[in-house]
Amino acid sequence: HRLRGVIVTIDGVAASGKSSVSGGVASALGIPYVSSGLLYRAATLLALEAGLDLHQTADLEAAVLQELARHTLVLEPLAAGNRVWEGQREITERLHSTRIDKGVSIIAVMPRVRAWVDDQLRALPAPFVAEGRDMGTAVFPEASAKFYLTASPRIRAERRAKERPEDIPAIEAALTRRDELDRAQIAPAPDALVIDTGPLDLQGVIDLILSKLALS
Ligand code: DC
Repeated sequence: HRLRGVIVTIDGVAASGKSSVSGGVASALGIPYVSSGLLYRAATLLALEAGLDLHQTADLEAAVLQELARHTLVLEPLAAGNRVWEGQREITERLHSTRIDKGVSIIAVMPRVRAWVDDQLRALPAPFVAEGRDMGTAVFPEASAKFYLTASPRIRAERRAKERPEDIPAIEAALTRRDELDRAQIAPAPDALVIDTGPLDLQGVIDLILSKLALS
C-alpha cells in the first residue's frame, strides 16, 4: 500500500468540523479515520451507566479506571463512520447526547484516562487519519502530516444548530465553555497547518488538506 504507515492528524476545537473533514479526507485517500473523542465519550458513558456522580464521587478517576478495566471498549475505525462497541453491544448512538457532551470534559482531563485512550489509539494499524485534540502533539508526534482546524464560536454554533434542535446562543455558550475546559489539550502542534474553516465549506476544507498532502 502506497500509504503504508502513514498517519495524518486533524486536531481542532469542538464543532470545527473535524469528524466530517477527517471522514472526507480518509475516504479520498481510501484509508480509515479514527475519532479519538469517541473513546472519551465511551469512558464517560461507562461512568454514567455505573451511576457515578461526576461532581461528587471521591477519587472519580480511580472509579472510572475500574469501569474501563471491567468492560471491553473497542473503537472500530471505519471510513464511513466510527463505531464503538462495549463487548457485543454497539454504543455509538449513545455517545452524542447532551449529557455526554457535558460529562466528557470532566472525564477527559484525567491523566490515566488519557493514557488509556492513547494506548488504544497507538495499537491501531496505520495508515489512518486521526482526529481529536492532541493527535498531532501527545499521541502521534511523528505523524506524516498535521492539521489544526479553527472557527469562531458563532460559526461553530450555527453549524451545530443544523444537527441539534437548540438555539444558537445556547450552543455558542456551551461551546465556549468546552473550549475553556479543553484548553489543556488543545494547542496546535508547532508543525501543524492551522486552517480557519470559517470562510470554507466542508469540501473546501477537505480539498485544501488533500492539496497539502504530498503523499503519492
Ligand atoms: O471530538 P469530540 O467532541 O467527540 O470530543 C469529545 C471530548 O473529548 C472533547 O470535549 C474533548 C475530549 N477529547 C480530548 O480531550 N482529546 C482528544 N484527542 C479528543 C477528544
